[in-house]
Amino acid sequence: MTAEQPHHSTDDAPVVLVLHGASGDLCRRLVLPALFELARRELLPADWRVVGAGRGEWSREDFVRHVREALEEFGPRPSEGPWDEVEQRLMAAGGGFAVEDAGELPGVLERAQEELGGSARVVHYLAVPPSAFLPMTRAFEAHGLVEGATVVYEKPYGTSLDSFEELDAEVQRVWDEEQVFRIDHFLAFEAMQDVIHARFANPWLAAIWNREHVAQVQVDVAETLDVAQRASFYDATGAFLDMIVTHLFQMAATVAMEPPADLGPGALQEARDAALERFRPLQPEDVVLGRFDGYLDIDGVPEDSTTDTLAAARVWIDTDRWRDVPFLLRSGKKMAADEQRVTLMLKPATEGPYAGTELGEPAAVSFSLLEGGALDVRLTVRTPGVEGGLSQGTATLPLDGLDGQREAPPYTHLVRHLLDGDRSLFTGVPGLRAAWRAIEPFAADRPAVQPYAPGTWGPAEVDRLAEPGRWFLR
Ligand SMILES: NC(=O)c1ccc[n+]([C@@H]2O[C@H](COP(=O)([O-])OP(=O)(O)OC[C@H]3O[C@@H](n4cnc5c(N)ncnc54)[C@H](OP(=O)(O)O)[C@@H]3O)[C@@H](O)[C@H]2O)c1
Repeated sequence: MTAEQPHHSTDDAPVVLVLHGASGDLCRRLVLPALFELARRELLPADWRVVGAGRGEWSREDFVRHVREALEEFGPRPSEGPWDEVEQRLMAAGGGFAVEDAGELPGVLERAQEELGGSARVVHYLAVPPSAFLPMTRAFEAHGLVEGATVVYEKPYGTSLDSFEELDAEVQRVWDEEQVFRIDHFLAFEAMQDVIHARFANPWLAAIWNREHVAQVQVDVAETLDVAQRASFYDATGAFLDMIVTHLFQMAATVAMEPPADLGPGALQEARDAALERFRPLQPEDVVLGRFDGYLDIDGVPEDSTTDTLAAARVWIDTDRWRDVPFLLRSGKKMAADEQRVTLMLKPATEGPYAGTELGEPAAVSFSLLEGGALDVRLTVRTPGVEGGLSQGTATLPLDGLDGQREAPPYTHLVRHLLDGDRSLFTGVPGLRAAWRAIEPFAADRPAVQPYAPGTWGPAEVDRLAEPGRWFLR
């Protein structure tokens, strides 16, 4: 049976979505396919336009060709959806968008408004390099495009407390907070949303979601890939800044949040932010940084690099629910497997006939984010046969395909929420600020990187962080 999913649409007013950086990798691989998927599922507003914006010469024909090619390559293919209808709604604005020169955008927006009856909401999606966020923010103000519009900033929204504050001060000066959305696409994975919905929809799960029953929370985002062609970008960032303080902190806060009053458009964001504000400052002894053997030989990596290709952190959250429960976060390259998991490692029995019994592995509730997602529940049961004893087994519930419904990739959720004005899957300023603040002691006293062999779960010290427990993935 399908229950009504809580979803909140502002209204069915026409929308103009402006894709700044439409020619880039993100739009090609993720945003344009997401839009076409929504068109295919008839989940776009009744009337809409998409403006592909960029610098230099960039005609409507260029944009249409670009969209078609993106869909051919990344799907759904044009033939699998309402391509003719979508094509008619595509517009292009070249000439860039800067304080000195707004290019073609204001004229194209006027034309889109005329075509849509004059009352369309305008959503500006900044799918441009982060260095363009500040200048473009100023350009919206300079060209009078702020009123009645919404803006979405891609990640990273700042790369340190200082750069976050600098960007956010300008964003808050130019926009009202209700107009601003900030992306962390990990919040939009199907299984990540189930960390919230499965928890609150199942009282037994909600009942164990606390320090009485949970020994550790683990968030793992592991890749077998190396840094590929992105070596110089990666070397300037590293695993800790690229993943831990951003995505994994937000995922940990999603686990840690107190029950929101409702599932309305702002309540989940507020609950997540409140959890992030309770993260204890991260001490250097709670962090392990690793570098896979061979990293320094990669073209584009400086020979004196100290960049971490793997980072693990033990975070403490000062709430009554989670006091003394470590949140173990780990992410890296060239690891043993491609895995994305959020796991609650459960405590053994403390009363009853099995109190104090040593078991092989702790019982666990684990959400896998890969593809359509899955929920694994590891339980202790009686060993079959006459010898007796206890064994452990895992029940796996694939989250994809339930009720005949297929998964949607994160960007499809994000674009839909954005067009609906629903903030649930977006990050909030108090949480982002709290995350940067929480890493200050670590950032001031960064531990040295330790070597690890490719194809492993990281340096031995990573296991130490989990003691007296163990990693679910090992
Ligand atoms: N790619 C991904 O998988 C991915 C994943 C998550 C988040 N992101 C984030 O999404 C954003 C876009 O990523 P991307 O990989 O698509 O970037 P990109 O390919 O480097 O750039 C996107 C487009 O932005 C325009 N652009 C480049 N420099 C600019 C500048 N200084 N000012 C204004 N426009 C500029 C270019 O279009 P024109 O030359 O046509 O103007 C370019 O095609 C970034 O913030 C990134 O961090 C990307």
